[in-house]
Amino acid sequence: MIHLQAAGTSFVLDARGSQPPSIVHWGAALGDLGDDDLAALGSAAVPAVPPSSLDTPPRLSVLPTLGDGWSGRPAFSGPSRPRFATSAVTRPSPGSVLISLGADGLAVATEIELSAQGVLRLRHRLTNTGAGSYDLGSLGVVLPVPARAAEVLDFGGLWAYERRPQRTALRTGAWTRETRHGRPGHDDPYLMMLGTPGFSFRGGEVWAAHLAWSGDKQLWAERSALGPTVLGAGELLAPGEVRLAPGESYTTPWTVAVWSGDGIDGLSARLHEWIRSRRAPEPRPVVLNTWEAVYFDQSLERLTPLVSAAAEVGVERFVLDDGWFRGRTDDRRALGDWTVDPERWPSGLTPLIDAVRDRGMEFGLWLEPEMVSPDSVLARDHPDWVLGDDAATWRHQRVLDLSVPEAYQHILDSIGALLTEYPIAFLKWDHNRDLLQEGSAHRQTTALYRLLAELKHRFPSVEIESCASGGARIDLGILDFVDRFWTSDTNDALERQQIQRWTGVLMPPELLGSHVGAPTAHITGRGGALSFRLATSLFGHAGIEWDLTTASAAERAVISAWVAEYQQRRALLHGGTTVRSDGDDPDRLLHGVVAPGRRTALYALVTLRAPGTAIPEPVRFPGLDPVRRYTVRPLVLGSPPRTVQDAAPPWLDAGAVTLPGRVLAEVGLPPALLTPEQAQLFTVDASPD
Ligand code: DGJ
Repeated sequence: MIHLQAAGTSFVLDARGSQPPSIVHWGAALGDLGDDDLAALGSAAVPAVPPSSLDTPPRLSVLPTLGDGWSGRPAFSGPSRPRFATSAVTRPSPGSVLISLGADGLAVATEIELSAQGVLRLRHRLTNTGAGSYDLGSLGVVLPVPARAAEVLDFGGLWAYERRPQRTALRTGAWTRETRHGRPGHDDPYLMMLGTPGFSFRGGEVWAAHLAWSGDKQLWAERSALGPTVLGAGELLAPGEVRLAPGESYTTPWTVAVWSGDGIDGLSARLHEWIRSRRAPEPRPVVLNTWEAVYFDQSLERLTPLVSAAAEVGVERFVLDDGWFRGRTDDRRALGDWTVDPERWPSGLTPLIDAVRDRGMEFGLWLEPEMVSPDSVLARDHPDWVLGDDAATWRHQRVLDLSVPEAYQHILDSIGALLTEYPIAFLKWDHNRDLLQEGSAHRQTTALYRLLAELKHRFPSVEIESCASGGARIDLGILDFVDRFWTSDTNDALERQQIQRWTGVLMPPELLGSHVGAPTAHITGRGGALSFRLATSLFGHAGIEWDLTTASAAERAVISAWVAEYQQRRALLHGGTTVRSDGDDPDRLLHGVVAPGRRTALYALVTLRAPGTAIPEPVRFPGLDPVRRYTVRPLVLGSPPRTVQDAAPPWLDAGAVTLPGRVLAEVGLPPALLTPEQAQLFTVDASPD
């Protein structure tokens, strides 16, 4: 028997005998179980044998297949129907297990790890030990969840409106999400959650799975009368996409799975802590990105005033977006020709980079290395490097086949040359189309990972942002190689509130780029108060995507103060625990970050639309220490949020109130009567002990 236990989570395997080990429990921690208790649990967990079924008790193995009686979606499919048996089970570390399974002509090594933060990771490696080639159908991870997890929550979405949550009751059958974009896509299921009915941010038991992979995938939840409810995840392979020659192996992406007894926030707490434990914390610099400021209108004359304006407000990293390379006058041409455009940049990028660096900022550059425009020197010289000869264009572009060694090398060399010639601290790595070539996603994704790894190895200090027409490639696979995600192309704060809230369930806020856009949002045309836009961007990796040369002196002064606020609170914003409340009114959101140790916190109350009631419910502050006393104060960025009220709540007029954390969480405080699209910030500080 094997018991992995960490951070309130237990995972128990019955690895006795020669059958593939079965999963006895994944969920709440079981405490310290001795060998006798574990053995008793293993035996006691064997269920009855129902009529009209296999004569052996049904158990869910780590690799359930039809061969061992699992008639749900199998973890493995291929031309043969192997029956796996266990050849070895080892413990590489106290938190991990390695299981070796064998069948006729096939071997599977299954790795299972439970991190110190309670995050479970599982993957399989399949090796063809037979004499002929083997066409893999699918190989994934299937995990049992209790029947009380009867509601599924995952995501849909579209360009500029990513991460739209959708919730449904799980009935008999499979709720399956598949993506075939060659990237996760704007409608990425992202994180599939199964929970007790009505589970919310702060309540309910939840089991969740994410596939750490940037190509095609499937996630599913399945309920049947013949076995446990399950959550499954795996790469979606086209026929013939993975063909293993004798001796060759295929390794699945990691399935990252997490349980919480405290609602969705409990998932985030474990995931964020785990993600942070795997990365060296770096202060996230305030960014100015040029895209919505100038689009393709690039020149030293046009950009120098923007550089100055950025420096004046305290920007720390200036990123030159699309439009700097040879012939790129619009989005119809030139992808692939990664040398500086001599017409718009006759002296190269050096004068601009010098201006940026002389003003104390880092320089970043946009690239879209996996793409090629039909109208480009690259496509004309190397038509054979373009993926698919009949593919339709998308944003007037095609895909460069990185599995062609020469194409791969060319891109590696081109980026290497830029990073060698110029002091570039940051690459915004874009990917603006679906692949749409059956059977290409696996090789393209593995080539991309190799490319990113090679660049990180050669240029370890260069940070990379994963962007894919906004947030179409946000996953834990690419996170091994990148430092930031472009969360969405929309900088409309109203849309961003929801997009960031839900993207942040999996990814911690410091990884999610969040920029203050122009007063009128470019994509939606919606106007937004500056204080609302600033408050929205504060809770991510903050930046600006606005031609600041058109901002008034007053606006710039407010932005400067906001930058200083962000810098001062950066450790809290990017190291704290994310919390969100389950309000009574869906158009009023509360979210915040509570510092480790729970001495300070920052919250935002956000109104999306008109209030549901004249006197809203008090704002309750989740995540504080119930016993400590805290002082709550409103924090104003620029002008206060707009209200319509004859009198503010007296505690707000007084400017502060001090109460125990338990009172703030259970009773809360009456808010000001905010109009739609406003945000009120609150600082919360513990009284000295
Ligand atoms: C799509 C990205 O998401 C935008 O931010 C911008 O970089 C454009 N591509 C540039 O073409």
